[in-house]
Formats: sequence, structure tokens, C-alpha cells
Amino acid sequence: MNLVVFGPPGAGKGTQARMLAEARGLVQLSTGDMLRAAVAAETDIGKQVKEAMETGQLCPDEIVIRLISDRVDEPDGANGFILDGFPRTVAQAEALDALLKDKNKDLDAVVEIKVDDDLLVGRITGRFTCANCGEGYHETFRPPKRPGVCDKCGSTEFTRREDDNEETVRRRLTAYHSETEPLVDYYSGTGRMKTVDGAQDIASVKEQIEEALSGL
Ligand code: AP5
Ligand code: MG
Ligand code: ZN
Repeated sequence: MNLVVFGPPGAGKGTQARMLAEARGLVQLSTGDMLRAAVAAETDIGKQVKEAMETGQLCPDEIVIRLISDRVDEPDGANGFILDGFPRTVAQAEALDALLKDKNKDLDAVVEIKVDDDLLVGRITGRFTCANCGEGYHETFRPPKRPGVCDKCGSTEFTRREDDNEETVRRRLTAYHSETEPLVDYYSGTGRMKTVDGAQDIASVKEQIEEALSGL
């Protein structure tokens, strides 16, 4: 099964994609994670996207499309993949359609996690991530069971993203509304769009997604 998890910054794409990937044996492909890794490793791609990422703008379509098309061929994706944060423009969605067709694969569903802007800034500014295993947390909504210790792996090292400040979040939201939200129309006509209420807590959103995908 191949899925897209779609929604604004802080909607819970990464949180839900990670759980879904584990439950269904799929691989989570987050373009944000891939691009941050490229920036950290100072690769050619990393150097080209660093400024856009730090300022909350979208990176060039051709770079992101190339990253995804190289990645979907790797053997760990044999059961299927969950695209987290891709596509984000109509050009990316068209490239994804062409890519899947070329490989004889289908897109089974686009899960839209819908959340109003006023909730999103607080979600993002309270976020932190385990430096060892990547598990995501939130100061208020999802603190580790033991303060300062990762539930999953026991690490005590956590990181925060450089783009997780209020000013950049607002720019990311603007980019979402102008460039990414038009994809709702793009996918609505296909019958594959499954919209869930992302303002609920993490467990309720997870349940809504399971229900939306239950026939698949
Ligand atoms: P990316 O990394 O994809 O960031 P984003 O879209 O801004 O989304 P986030 O990762 O911030 O949020 P999320 O929806 O994953 O939420 P999370 O689950 O962490 O992209 C970063 C940058 O990379 C872009 O700005 C762009 O520059 C570039 N880029 C990436 N993809 C690109 C593409 N395709 N094209 C061009 N450029 C691209 O949850 C957030 C917090 O809330 C966490 O703390 C979590 O614990 C908590 N939380 C989650 N769900 C809930 C809930 N239901 N209730 C309460 N708290 C919750
Ligand atoms: Mg994310
Ligand atoms: Zn961990």
C-alpha cells in the first residue's frame, strides 16, 4: 500500500506516519527529514536547500522530486511507502503520478490531517525529538513518560529543529496555504482523499486514520 500523509506544518504528519509505518510494515519517506539530513551532511543538495529550509520556504520541485524518485526504488519500500510532506505543489503531485505509473504502482490514499492555523504554532514551538531514535515529543501534548528520557530507546539526548520558531512557522504556513493547499482540489476528484480532524488528540487522530483506511 502506498499513502500520502498531507497537512500543514505541525498537523501531525510525522507523528501519524511513524505509527502507521510501524503498524503496517511500510517505510516512512519524509522529504523534510531527507532534506534536513542533506543540510546536516553538507551535501550539494544540502547546500542548495539550506536557506529555503531555514526561512520556511519550499525547496525547488526538481530537487525534491529527484530525492523521492531515487528513494522509492530501494528494497525496503517493497511493501509500500508513506510519503510524509510530499507532494507539496501541483508539479510534485503530477511528478508523483508519472513516477508511480512508470513503476506500475498505485497511490491508495491521501490522508489529509486538517488543523486550523491557530493550533499549529503551539504544536511546533513545543516540539522536540529524540536525538537517537527520532521519536517525536511535545512539551504539553506528548511529554516522555519519564521526564528527559525517551520512551522508545531510553536516550536522554533531544533535539529541536532550527525552523521551529514562531517567525519561520508563520512563513511555512503561508507557503502551505499558497502552494500546497491547492492539492486538496487536485486529489479530491480522485476519490482517494481521506480527511481526518487533526485538532483531536494524537490517539483519536490515529483511530480516525485507521478507520479511514480500514477497507484498504
Ligand atoms: P517538514 O519537515 O515536512 O515540516 P512541515 O511540513 O512544516 O511539518 P512538520 O514536520 O513541522 O509537522 P508535522 O505535520 O510532521 O507534525 P509533527 O507530527 O511533528 O518540512 C520542513 C521544510 O523542508 C519545509 O519548510 C521545506 O523547506 C522543506 N520541504 C520538505 N518537504 C518539501 C517538499 N515536498 N517540497 C519542498 N520543500 C519541502 O507534530 C508536531 C508537534 O505536535 C509534535 O511535537 C507532536 O508531538 C505534536 N502533535 C502531533 N499530533 C498532535 C495532536 N493530535 N495533538 C497534540 N499534539 C500533537
Ligand atoms: Mg514532520
Ligand atoms: Zn529515542
